[in-house]
Amino acid sequence: MECCTSKRAAADNQGSKIRQKSLQMFYTLCTLSKCMLILSIFELWGHGGSAGELYASLKNYPTDKMLPYLQSDSTYKVHIHTFNKTLTQAQKIKKIDALEFLPFKGKVNLKNPEHIFWILEDYGMNPNDVPEEPIHLYFGRWIADGQRELIESYSVKKRHFIGNTSMDACLSFIMANHGRVKPNDIVYDPFVGTGGLLISSAHFGAYVCGTDIDYNTIHGLGKASRKNQKWRGPDENIRANLRQYGLEKYYLDALVADSSRPIWRKGMLFDAIITDPPYGIREAPRRMGSQKETVKSVERSAENHFFVSSSYHLSDIFFDLLKFGAEYLVMGGRLVYWLPIYRPEYTEEIIPRHPCLKLISNCEQMLSSHTSRRLITMEKVKEFKDQDEKSYLLDGQYMPYRGHNSFREKYFSGVTKRIAKEEKDNQK
Ligand SMILES: C[S@@+](CC[C@H](N)C(=O)[O-])C[C@H]1O[C@@H](n2cnc3c(N)ncnc32)[C@H](O)[C@@H]1O
Repeated sequence: MECCTSKRAAADNQGSKIRQKSLQMFYTLCTLSKCMLILSIFELWGHGGSAGELYASLKNYPTDKMLPYLQSDSTYKVHIHTFNKTLTQAQKIKKIDALEFLPFKGKVNLKNPEHIFWILEDYGMNPNDVPEEPIHLYFGRWIADGQRELIESYSVKKRHFIGNTSMDACLSFIMANHGRVKPNDIVYDPFVGTGGLLISSAHFGAYVCGTDIDYNTIHGLGKASRKNQKWRGPDENIRANLRQYGLEKYYLDALVADSSRPIWRKGMLFDAIITDPPYGIREAPRRMGSQKETVKSVERSAENHFFVSSSYHLSDIFFDLLKFGAEYLVMGGRLVYWLPIYRPEYTEEIIPRHPCLKLISNCEQMLSSHTSRRLITMEKVKEFKDQDEKSYLLDGQYMPYRGHNSFREKYFSGVTKRIAKEEKDNQK
């Protein structure tokens, strides 16, 4: 009886381990089905700082973990991938043959194998100083690939409708992931431009919409951004982009609107707001001016579309954006946006805050030695009440990001070039 119970306990234990492993595998594959930054994942069987160390480590890998993938009725192939070095075919074959001590019993099938194994060789990061032998070697069983091929298939270079600031495909997918975009969500971009950020969200099954102050961009009119093309052609617009990728059914619409004056009815509408506001480098931040304001310019778009524009300070853009997110996101919904940074003056305090939004992440992308942009992700954690409308003024968070107003001047002032030169001179 006791023996039976302990056997059952052992079986249960084994069963729960298998379930746990399958569950882990399921989560890994779910993650990989959205991941841009992972090339592949492997089950690591061995590694070492030299070929000898790798072989010794492989000989120590438990045989019972290897055998299920080396059976006589299975098929397999071995690949080799090198970082920072190119090997000849003969060198590759020699390295693969050196693994013959592994108990492979199945048949080699190069076209459609059941199991794929990889040798990964790391020759360091310096292309001007590539060592003769790898600095580290790995061997493992391939499990799954990330989604890096989407970077190529959604590349801006092959896109129907583009502008000067169309968002790069990889970053656009990373932003959708930060926004935790999922099927049937509603995703909004208040600075939609050519809709680069709508595409990745639509790929993940969300319904997408956007607004932009630029009439020409929304209507696909005006000057083309491509070399050798003067004017935008017919059907160069956001809808056509989504159609190009078979995602048109996820397109709600794009409207001409000024993000400093929300056009939406009250209520929580969006599951995610994913956007890239203008920093004033390649796109001037503008907003609709009123007749009472000092009119800076009257702009003319196609089809006699006129609007009075006045400058829109960066700090006001972010303030309006956070307030909009706080008001129009569903609870738990995410706001994801880029914040331009003048690096010598950066401290975490200048990240704009709002009492209804919790900062989830803050990742830097360098633009030059002294400028960068930060991908800011915030989550709505508190319902928006009327008193939150101006609460930013009270908590001392507003003043620090006033500094963003000078980003454009610093970018163009030559200060960044001068400091970079001084740094270079100091290194000599
Ligand atoms: C950096 S671009 C966005 C590019 C876009 N992510 C894409 O993939 O094409 C910023 C956009 O903000 C728009 N914009 C500037 N001021 C605005 C305002 N007050 N309201 C709405 N859009 C504005 C510009 O016309 C421009 O298209």
